[in-house]
Amino acid sequence: MANLQTTFAGITSPNPFWLASAPPTDKAYNVNRAFEAGWGGVVWKTLGEAGPPVVNVNGPRYGALLSPDRRLLGFNNIELITDRDLEINLREIAEVKRLWPDRAMVVSIMVPCEEKSWRAILPRVEDTGADAIELNFGCPHGMSERGMGAAVGQVPEYIQMVTQWCKQYGKLPVIVKLTPNITDIRNPARAAKAGGADAVSLINTINSIMGVDPYTLTMSPSTGGKGSHGGYCGPAVKPIALNMVAEIARDPQTAGLPISGIGGIGTWRDAVDYIALGAGNVQVCTAAMVYGFRIVQDMADGLSTYMDEMGFTSVSQIVGKATPTVSDWRYLNLNHISKAVINQDSCIQCGRCHVVCEDTSHQAITFEKNGKRHFEVKEDECVGCNLCVNVCPVVDCISMRDLAVGEIDLRTKKAVVGLHADWTTHPNNPMRSTA
Ligand SMILES: Cc1cc2nc3c(=O)[nH]c(=O)nc-3n(C[C@H](O)[C@H](O)[C@H](O)COP(=O)(O)O)c2cc1C
Ligand code: SF4
Ligand code: SF4
Repeated sequence: MANLQTTFAGITSPNPFWLASAPPTDKAYNVNRAFEAGWGGVVWKTLGEAGPPVVNVNGPRYGALLSPDRRLLGFNNIELITDRDLEINLREIAEVKRLWPDRAMVVSIMVPCEEKSWRAILPRVEDTGADAIELNFGCPHGMSERGMGAAVGQVPEYIQMVTQWCKQYGKLPVIVKLTPNITDIRNPARAAKAGGADAVSLINTINSIMGVDPYTLTMSPSTGGKGSHGGYCGPAVKPIALNMVAEIARDPQTAGLPISGIGGIGTWRDAVDYIALGAGNVQVCTAAMVYGFRIVQDMADGLSTYMDEMGFTSVSQIVGKATPTVSDWRYLNLNHISKAVINQDSCIQCGRCHVVCEDTSHQAITFEKNGKRHFEVKEDECVGCNLCVNVCPVVDCISMRDLAVGEIDLRTKKAVVGLHADWTTHPNNPMRSTA
């Protein structure tokens, strides 16, 4: 069994699977059970400043996008930060950390964007024995209307300023949690680094509305007939988050800044995607809320088996392994050519590939041969777009074949060239480099 112990921003945990700041980490009861199940660490549900706690709506605070077989694809919430008293939370954090000294205990904080507010809460959190703090600059609803959460995360100068306060007045490592509701994720990550952050974590949730009840024509879910946008998460957001993680990992200005990957993680495969693209560990919320804490056991077993198969002896050996394969579009090799191939033995002749290629792609799949249904790729039309692969209901029935150098592409009638040629030098590009 591979050793899954991970050190992230100086914080050691028995595995790289942490629970993200959210309902699963809102109280000692949950976190103790999560640690019993095997989670390597938690980020405690975001704490606010001392005084009367925030108040949540007393109606539906969650909404879901479900597949036709009712598996959850996307999840939406309008929940605020913890609505429990600060003193109770701090006491429970200290108790749980004492019980589980080997697990990572990170405390998420969101207080007004004023120096005195941050200065007041930092020593109180440190007194709990927590390992680090996470600054919640990402909550996109409710709190952002009050000038906190995403309202801070959308202004790089504020991120830098608050991070600096936390480094100046606090002793714990600072993880800055970023909002995805921004045009270029590299700017807030750079600001966090400039402020002295020990790490960034991302993503928090994405602004979203789930839909409308067609019979009342009311936004749904609603609280007594009205709704507000919420934060979107779960499997549907993973590709968005992966791109943001990779953008930060390959940005020379944030090189080496540890990244905690969050968004749609529910399996060891999801975790490998994040880690290989540059994350040092991962955090999970929705999958735990939908399937329960015990999913971590499959995640840990799966990751360990994968590492044994691949010959990795520590998680750190996987970190960023795939980052150099992420490129800007303009550097992709335009001389590379692929064609779809249909395996006739596994084809169930449903015809979906033909329909989509005929209607929306390149009319490159047959429908019949000798009067019988027959689906075969016409290589002289196929541009290798991968659409048919994505719609075919049979696993691996359609695959993509890379043409060998020298092979004739039947569509262009030209031999495949071995040399790399991309848009930066392409003759159709008026801005091409001629050097
Ligand atoms: C119901 C709910 C409440 C959340 N509350 C917080 C919070 O208090 N603080 C925070 O930083 N993120 C909060 N999040 C965001 C999650 O920590 C996480 O960033 C996001 O859900 C993406 O991960 P996932 O796809 O695994 O859910 C919340 C998410 C959900 C679903
Ligand atoms: S790869 Fe694209 S063009 Fe080729 S057969 Fe499939 S859908 Fe048609
Ligand atoms: S979509 Fe797949 S199974 Fe259906 S006809 Fe095409 S290749 Fe065969």
